[in-house]
Amino acid sequence: LNLEITTNITHEIPSTLYGYMWEDINHSGDGGLYAELLQNRAFQGVIPGTQNALNAWQAHNGARLSVTSKTEGVSSALPNSLQVQIPKVVFGPVGFENTGYWGLKVQEGWTYNGSFYVKSDTYTGSITVSLKSSRGTVFASQTLTGVSNAWVKLTFQLTPTVSAANDDNVFSVILDGGAAAGQTLYFGMFSLFPPTFKGRENGMRIDLAEAMAATNPTVWRFPGGNNLEGLSFDTRWKWNETIGPLENRPGRVGDWSYPNTDGLGLLEYLNWAEDLGAEPILGVWSGISTANYSDLADWPIVPEADLQPYVEDVLNEIEFIVGNKSTKWGKVRASLGREEPYSLRFIEVGNEDQFQEDSYAAYRWSAFVNAISAEYPEMEFLATSFPSLALNPPYKRIDFHQYDSASFFETNAFFFDTYPRNGTKWFVGEYAVTSTNESNPLGLITQGRLQYPSLAGSTAEAAFMTGMERNSDVVFASAYAPSLQHIRNYQWTPDIISFDASRMVRSTSYYVQQMFSSNRGTHVLTTNPPSDSTSVPLYWVASYNNETEVVFLKVSNTGTDDLVGNIVLDFSTPGFATAISLGTPALSPISELFNISNTIDEPDQVIPVASSFSFQDPTRFNYTFPATSITVLAMQSL
Ligand code: AHR
Repeated sequence: LNLEITTNITHEIPSTLYGYMWEDINHSGDGGLYAELLQNRAFQGVIPGTQNALNAWQAHNGARLSVTSKTEGVSSALPNSLQVQIPKVVFGPVGFENTGYWGLKVQEGWTYNGSFYVKSDTYTGSITVSLKSSRGTVFASQTLTGVSNAWVKLTFQLTPTVSAANDDNVFSVILDGGAAAGQTLYFGMFSLFPPTFKGRENGMRIDLAEAMAATNPTVWRFPGGNNLEGLSFDTRWKWNETIGPLENRPGRVGDWSYPNTDGLGLLEYLNWAEDLGAEPILGVWSGISTANYSDLADWPIVPEADLQPYVEDVLNEIEFIVGNKSTKWGKVRASLGREEPYSLRFIEVGNEDQFQEDSYAAYRWSAFVNAISAEYPEMEFLATSFPSLALNPPYKRIDFHQYDSASFFETNAFFFDTYPRNGTKWFVGEYAVTSTNESNPLGLITQGRLQYPSLAGSTAEAAFMTGMERNSDVVFASAYAPSLQHIRNYQWTPDIISFDASRMVRSTSYYVQQMFSSNRGTHVLTTNPPSDSTSVPLYWVASYNNETEVVFLKVSNTGTDDLVGNIVLDFSTPGFATAISLGTPALSPISELFNISNTIDEPDQVIPVASSFSFQDPTRFNYTFPATSITVLAMQSL
């Protein structure tokens, strides 16, 4: 290949090109990014009296546990409490334990901040809380007093002096056995936090937050996905039930088959987006719930005549985010500690409304867009129907999702080259190579669905991404999805980062996102020849950063042979370039590339390798793009 990188700028690259799509799926939030360690901490979204209501709780030494709403809860939002009945005859310590989100990380030197509510008509003895292994080794403990017949919140700190060998640990609550015999106690709203990202209260798990921040995302779409929509109207993501003290947040049964605490609520998301330096894309509920995921025809839709209250709810939500302190909802935000309005430019109306485009086109889209733009003319809207669907008012931006096979992404690497330049822009708001099975890309693992992103899949995504970046005059944003996956309980594969209670793995697709997003130009440059269908299996895009004066060449080689590029530059360099490359581990047979993945047990099978090289003529060099690899070359332009 002879490839000339010219100095001709085709267009500016939008600041929003790479980022994340977010929703609580796979315990990405509760049990994942949200640093809270105790699962089912406030018995939200469960049915009292059922065994399921005790999820993650277990008795110690004969205590009888049940979840009840028959005693007044700690708040009207949290009506369920843990009832603990101690037998009349008890030998030794008695109490109960929480097993966390499939284990607890116990780290020497960390301070764990905890609290819970308790009341009892008869028990006034002590309560010892500890972090211990499930075999009984105590890492840290504290004894508390103050139980009375009215709810009292007890707080504590635990600082282990040694780390646990593994995650097989529990949070234990032990009563004074003698005094507790025959007594009943009630507990509610537990919490246990390790140190968090940037030390934020109610904040994020450090390793996951740092990994996400390290891709330098500049957009943050939230709060879903399906999890915005709810399994019913009433269980939709309700912004106003996710703000304020945790005791005021009822939580909900999310779309992905587990209760959401809503500890990660609207303000936490907005603060997190600011921490990332990412522009929020706010998904707003648009009058549809997902009901039965497999039967699209059954999804409940709000009739036009009943839609207005939901439109007003969204107006309130936006006022909460951008209103000043003199507005009703801006004042509420200020009372929660954030006086300054957030900046918000993008509103996404619904999620995947291509499945229900009749009602979307007939009245849902227009009801939300007209009402919001009347009050906030500066807002820009994203539609979620098929790109071909005419909407009134016409959409200017669209979010359309692509989960498919590697060959789909390779074939469509040139899709945006011919996308009409008619003023409409595209957000590739969810995409991933999900399967080796071209005819059933969302099937089962046994049918080719990927457990983790694979190197071959990631090179195909990178090929597609060269097309997105090259056409970033029409593709204004993108997000691989889903983001995070708890490896012990998940609903969707593959995911960009997988984790358990203490470990984490960055997938090959993670590294591709990081390589593309961290090496950003401000403008796309023309190459000769252009990357097009004649140049496969090499795919590329060149860009220039006008602040650093660095030229980037991003290349995906999806083929099974090394390919040499004779690179000619229309500008001079110091005769020196750097490269970062994600490629095939030595000796891996090409036939196994779809199986080569970073996994929780083997997290570093494929990791980026940085290098640098010199060349004598400052305007040309040869570079070998290895088989099935992604490379970013960076050259200083003089
Ligand atoms: O990313 C998982 C799901 O895929 C999202 O919730 C939904 O928008 C899409 O169908």
